[in-house]
Amino acid sequence: MKYEIKITKTTEPKAKPADESKLGFGKIFTDHMFIMDYNTEKGWHDARIVPFGPLPIHPASTVLHYGAEIFEGMKAYRTVNGDISLFRPMENIRRLNNSAERLCLPQLDEEGCLDILKTMVELEKDWVPHSEGTSLYIRPYMYGNDEHLGVHAVHAATFVVICSPVGAYYAEGINPVKIAIESADVRAVRGGTGYAKCGGNYAASLRAGEKAERAGYTQVLWLDGVNRKYIEEVGSMNVMFKVNGKIITPALTGSVLPGITRKSCVELLKDWGYEVEERLFSVDELFEAAKNGTLEEAWGTGTAAVVSPIGHLFYENNEYTVSDNKIGALTQKLYDELTGIQWGKIADTHNWSVKVCEG
Ligand code: COI
Repeated sequence: MKYEIKITKTTEPKAKPADESKLGFGKIFTDHMFIMDYNTEKGWHDARIVPFGPLPIHPASTVLHYGAEIFEGMKAYRTVNGDISLFRPMENIRRLNNSAERLCLPQLDEEGCLDILKTMVELEKDWVPHSEGTSLYIRPYMYGNDEHLGVHAVHAATFVVICSPVGAYYAEGINPVKIAIESADVRAVRGGTGYAKCGGNYAASLRAGEKAERAGYTQVLWLDGVNRKYIEEVGSMNVMFKVNGKIITPALTGSVLPGITRKSCVELLKDWGYEVEERLFSVDELFEAAKNGTLEEAWGTGTAAVVSPIGHLFYENNEYTVSDNKIGALTQKLYDELTGIQWGKIADTHNWSVKVCEG
């Protein structure tokens, strides 16, 4: 089912970024945004693309008080064949609906949502940057928007899509990042919202993130909230380790985000003949592998982070260097394969790319 989208184009288009090497992440926004409203009487209605600008919001809106917000992160790529394409967009749409279910927000029609994303990207196609390593980051998000203060499942919601031309997420680019394993704060627990992509998970991660940054680390690696010993995720990415030739990645226990880049890497690694263990992996086992020399590589996976090597791991006064603080051969191979598929340089044998339009 397609939503009928009314398009009002801006009369004041902005200048595109002149220097794509300085894009960074999420600082520049395109000319338009998509908005659609929901209420229990009318369902989703009033789908519109309008000039990019502030959202009017009622001071009692649910999201401002009870944090009913979910989002996705996806990218549009300018391929070497001259097309603009998306990477596994249905995976993001299904995850958005799973997040909506957890937070009692309304469901979106999957095909209708894909059509919204394609319409937005086609309209903003001149904003998809050209340089290697860049893309148009797409941020669909939904929030509860009832205009009163009772605590209950929402009766009104708003769905928005904004787009931002981006380069690398980390200032380090493809160079290894330093990660601190957090032993005090907890990001999520099983039965909570860890598997959903909701703003609250990120809000809960900020304090530890700030502490890690002050100590010179890029981000925090979370442990499970019950035993405080099993590795979960970094928050902006899932994690994988190569130990003695095998790949180990935390199982999706309910408190870990089911990453689409994670899933794609697992599929690629299995294609290449690697044994991939999705299981509980304790910080003790990780440091034992680091000490006895069997920890060969560590990396993170995510839409924003792509495949990011981890060069240092810090935990309770112990610091370990992974693969001499250099990108490992397998990490590099995964990065090259994934971005090769996304940029149309490598045959897309899994049919992961979805063409939006000519570039
Ligand atoms: C993404 O990888 O798209 C994310 O959502 C991670 C982060 C920027 C919140």
